[in-house]
Amino acid sequence: MDLVRNLFGSTIGRKLIMAVTGVVLIGFVVGHLVGNLQVYENPDRINGYAHFLQSLGPLLWAVRAFLLGCVTLHIWSATVLMLESRRARGDEPYAVNRWIQAAVSSRYMRGTGYVVLAFILYHLAQFTVGVAQPASFKTNLPHYTMGSDYHIAGLTVVRAGTDVLDVRSMVIRGFANPVVSVFYIVAVGLLSLHLLHGADSLFQTLGWRSQRWERGLRVVVTLLCAAYFLGNLAIPGGVLLGMLK
Ligand code: HEM
Repeated sequence: MDLVRNLFGSTIGRKLIMAVTGVVLIGFVVGHLVGNLQVYENPDRINGYAHFLQSLGPLLWAVRAFLLGCVTLHIWSATVLMLESRRARGDEPYAVNRWIQAAVSSRYMRGTGYVVLAFILYHLAQFTVGVAQPASFKTNLPHYTMGSDYHIAGLTVVRAGTDVLDVRSMVIRGFANPVVSVFYIVAVGLLSLHLLHGADSLFQTLGWRSQRWERGLRVVVTLLCAAYFLGNLAIPGGVLLGMLK
């Protein structure tokens, strides 16, 4: 009980909550991108993958609830920390430079965070609930029959001949709308900047900022964030350029 009180009730505890939930969410977005890039392979791949996820049933709901909990805690801890640092600034008249830096970065993280949140809500409406572009939603498209088995870690999880939802066509039809695609590209760009800046805060929390290898670490993180952006860009970009049909 004391542990929970300390975690939620102290600044360092809240920073820890923000860092841990941030790392979990990074794990999700990277895994999601790797899964989505299968759109460039045989349609059996992404359709089999989506079918496998849907077939997890209650486990899928447990993962969704866990991710939603992480998003909520991430936003809550960010908001409380921001209000705290605003209050603390009033007592620290000499730290003007640090004050300006912190204000700019927290405003920047908030701004990119709001756009990412709006993006996730639209994304769920489009691909999970199907209210944003109902005509191209997976349940309204003809079913797809798997031409080959779909394996994960050597295990067959979807058999050839199974009728599955055509998630690949849903994605391609969805991104055929340039307004939707441009919104995605801008949003994943801001998400990548959010991740880049979030990594900085994480390293600060972990006390890695003053290390000798800080610059090298920053270069690696910048390259990873750029790769993340390009990977995401490749999907709507590929549809707009006619490379994905
Ligand atoms: C161009 C990039 C992306 C594509 C093509 C894509 C595609 C998809 C598809 C097809 C689904 C529905 C899967 C299904 O139920 O059959 C989905 C769900 C989802 N996506 Fe994405 N996605 C992209 C980027 C992102 C990003 C950047 C985020 C996070 C910021 C994200 C978060 C989610 C979430 C939270 C779900 C709901 C998962 C669920 O229903 O359990 N996606 N995405």
